[in-house]
Amino acid sequence: MKKRILVISSANIDFVQNVERLPYSGETIIETKGTYTYTPGGKGANSALTFARFGADCVFVCKVGADANGAKLKSLYKAEGIDTRFIVEDKENPTGLASIIVENGGKNRITVFPGANNNMQPEDLEDAFTSYPDAVYLQFEIADAAVIEACRLAAERGIPVFVDAAPARFDYPLDKLGKVEIFSPNETECRIYTGITPSCEESALRAAIRLRGMVQAKYIVIKLGDRGAFMFDGKEYFVYPPENVIPVDTTAAGDVFTAAMTYSYTQNGNIHSAIRMANIAAAISVTREGASTSIPTLSEVIEFREKKKISDEKRTPLTDTFEKTDEVKAN
Ligand code: RIB
Repeated sequence: MKKRILVISSANIDFVQNVERLPYSGETIIETKGTYTYTPGGKGANSALTFARFGADCVFVCKVGADANGAKLKSLYKAEGIDTRFIVEDKENPTGLASIIVENGGKNRITVFPGANNNMQPEDLEDAFTSYPDAVYLQFEIADAAVIEACRLAAERGIPVFVDAAPARFDYPLDKLGKVEIFSPNETECRIYTGITPSCEESALRAAIRLRGMVQAKYIVIKLGDRGAFMFDGKEYFVYPPENVIPVDTTAAGDVFTAAMTYSYTQNGNIHSAIRMANIAAAISVTREGASTSIPTLSEVIEFREKKKISDEKRTPLTDTFEKTDEVKAN
């Protein structure tokens, strides 16, 4: 059965520059080989679009400016089948803008000018809960008070909450989130929250244990980019190797990963197959340029899985995915 996912998060226009290399301080580069584009982005919108392309019933709450960008984004979401009835227009602030520089090899650097996203108020959310969602999906690219209110409204109604913990701040009020089904940071975010870089199994486990002390989460899923993913359920941990592809642009891969994982988990409650599906979806997205433009459909993910004969086995043996520490090697 189709699940209804309520995404409460951000919407941006992405100004993307594909460049050979970054300029040094004080240097001007004439970029003759690169390109630039303005495309729809924002962590929330990228996730909402993933849910929609996977066939979920997606309700999206975001705040956009009363400007041309806001109108353009709203009509794009509508065209993709997203329920846009609860999107709020901000008369005082412009639509969010992200400046993204993608270097050769696909690695990116992002600066976000949040605009209306930062002005999302607790009272902007309540109406959206009249859509009776099966799950609430959050990220941290909107005002903290709105995220906390979304958690409160979800808890009051017994709706499970899924958190893509991006972007991170060391002082983010994680203790105010309440119960969370899956809490998913990437490596950098993990380091900001815990002070631990998940560079090997042992450090990933230490970071996950620390995160479980900070957030009441059933599962901690750490996204490790081209090293796959790591999951801790409070008793055991699991390592999921990545799908090998040649990346051209990693923008939005994390958004796609967490949304694909949430989609699959809400369908059947199986965390292992959810992470495997998320790995495939993220792998496809890094082979394409841009944020919203890189998001695959569910049938593309299934086709990839069948072509590569990826099994849905529960546990991955501990492999070279991580560089093992002496302590892990010894066991
Ligand atoms: O995660 C990628 C996204 O981060 C971009 O689309 C950009 O808008 C920023 O929010």
